[in-house]
Amino acid sequence: MLYSDKVMDHFTNPRNVGTIENADGVGEVGNAKCGDIMKIFLKIDDGIITDVKFSTFGCGSAIASSSMATEMIKGKPVSQALELTNKAVVEALDGLPAHKIHCSVLAEEAVKAAVKDYYDKNGIEYDPEMFAQKHDCEHCG
Ligand code: FES
Repeated sequence: MLYSDKVMDHFTNPRNVGTIENADGVGEVGNAKCGDIMKIFLKIDDGIITDVKFSTFGCGSAIASSSMATEMIKGKPVSQALELTNKAVVEALDGLPAHKIHCSVLAEEAVKAAVKDYYDKNGIEYDPEMFAQKHDCEHCG
């Protein structure tokens, strides 16, 4: 079986699909190679992610990764969302095939982009290093 039960579950029954009106942070990223696009919306109260939604125009692994990523950051402090790595998402999904790892990278990047948007909108200072690409994907370098 190429895909784990968890990947199939999050693909066929994705959590937190949709958009948030007046979101506190929105992040949109795309993968130039496959053309897939992922958008993450955050509602943030007192530094806590109280709601998160995603819309993904992409492959099944990208949808499963976004679904899992939203579950992993919901109810968590923003600082913790920033620490979410694509590796953690892949582990939570019980693995992805090697050529699909880059799909999980989209999830990490979209979450980070949404947090950055929140910081920018609110004039919160941050170390740009925090948004440096640290993900684990042979295609992305
Ligand atoms: Fe593009 Fe999966 S093939 S994100």
